[in-house]
Amino acid sequence: MNSFNYKNGELYIEGLNIHSIAKEVRTPFYCYSFNHLKDQYNKLDQSITLGNYQICYAVKSNSNQSIIKTFSKLGSGADVVSIGELKRALEVGISPNKIVFSGVGKSLEEMQFAINNNILMFNIESISELRRLSDESIKLNTKSPVSLRINPDISAGGNEKISTGKAEDKFGIDWRGASESYDLAGSLPGIKIVGIDAHIGSQINDLEPFEKSFDRLSKITKSLRKKGHEINILDVGGGLGVKYHPDDRPLDIEGYGKLLSEKLGDLDCKIIIEPGRFLTANSAILVTKTLYIKNTDSNNFIIVDAAMNDFIRPTLYNAYHQVVSVKEGKKDTVLKYDIVGPVCESGDFFRKNIKMGSIEEGDLLAIKSVGAYGSVLSSNYNTRPSINEILVNNDQFEIIRDRVEVEEIIKRDKIPNWI
Ligand code: LLP
Repeated sequence: MNSFNYKNGELYIEGLNIHSIAKEVRTPFYCYSFNHLKDQYNKLDQSITLGNYQICYAVKSNSNQSIIKTFSKLGSGADVVSIGELKRALEVGISPNKIVFSGVGKSLEEMQFAINNNILMFNIESISELRRLSDESIKLNTKSPVSLRINPDISAGGNEKISTGKAEDKFGIDWRGASESYDLAGSLPGIKIVGIDAHIGSQINDLEPFEKSFDRLSKITKSLRKKGHEINILDVGGGLGVKYHPDDRPLDIEGYGKLLSEKLGDLDCKIIIEPGRFLTANSAILVTKTLYIKNTDSNNFIIVDAAMNDFIRPTLYNAYHQVVSVKEGKKDTVLKYDIVGPVCESGDFFRKNIKMGSIEEGDLLAIKSVGAYGSVLSSNYNTRPSINEILVNNDQFEIIRDRVEVEEIIKRDKIPNWI
């Protein structure tokens, strides 16, 4: 289902006209389609034909509790990487036995909290972390369920900042040393080995890297079992790619489901999948208002009220995001524009050299595919407020995140009396 469509020359999200929402909500704001979120989850769920699996939504892609709860109600667990994400997941009612804790730098406080909440497993990324978890678990009179994150040395992902499965990346334990690491884990009194995991990168649109990773995980699992290690859970990570550019060929999701069965179906493991972007990326637009049009000798700038602090992917990753006019563009007067924000940096742009029907001051624009790694990566740079997020369900919407006004931000500063 496409939740964003023009009707009578105006952009709609589900049954709601964006202009009418913008009369009630201050721009810029993030605007999500509830039904798109559900559709994506169901699409993935239906593509998986394995008997025993659990989707654990990667909360980092969008940690708004309404979004987490949407997936939780469809059966999802959670992949979390901090105590904050863990608390959010628990808060919306995700059962601890559907939560995995990933990340290279878990603090003691995070370990203790997760142990006390009986999560499904810790995805452990180094020997030091393994030893620390063992020590903490002994202090709390328990053994913690652990999988070791294997770095399979496979190149994958949209760009180098989001590739995580190569030997030189900071993630996981080199697959060549997996066997010894598991032997050590098995000897630690605070550790109970339950599984194995890998995550090779993000925005992966080909099946091939997944295939290689599944093959490697399967082989390692079999050889670990031969040595007597109990591997009952196999976590394949996330990374499922989506369509950002009209020419992108997104991951073949049915093919992905088949691959899981083909490569891992014989292992008799619970298979965990940790998708983030696949579930959230195309569920949302960022609605922004044109403040000024500035024509110079070299460029036509559209200066909008959203900025890099609200949505940083274009400048951080050089990521492509479609931008459309909420009032359908006039095709007879197409111009080339740079769409930029008010922040005082040249990197504050959303698109360069984009061809659009002519835009006027006051016009609303929609930056598309911003549901993943959008609002979660926002900041208050330039002392700008945190903006609203809203969730649309057919012809109604609710605010799912309040604005944080600048007064609140300023109030957090403390001034020592010796200044
Ligand atoms: N599991 C682990 C261990 C991860 O590190 C990640 C993402 C995921 C699952 C979810 O990956 P996904 O299914 O969303 O691809 N900020 C970057 C993306 C960073 C991804 C970090 N790890 C971006 O905006 O492209």
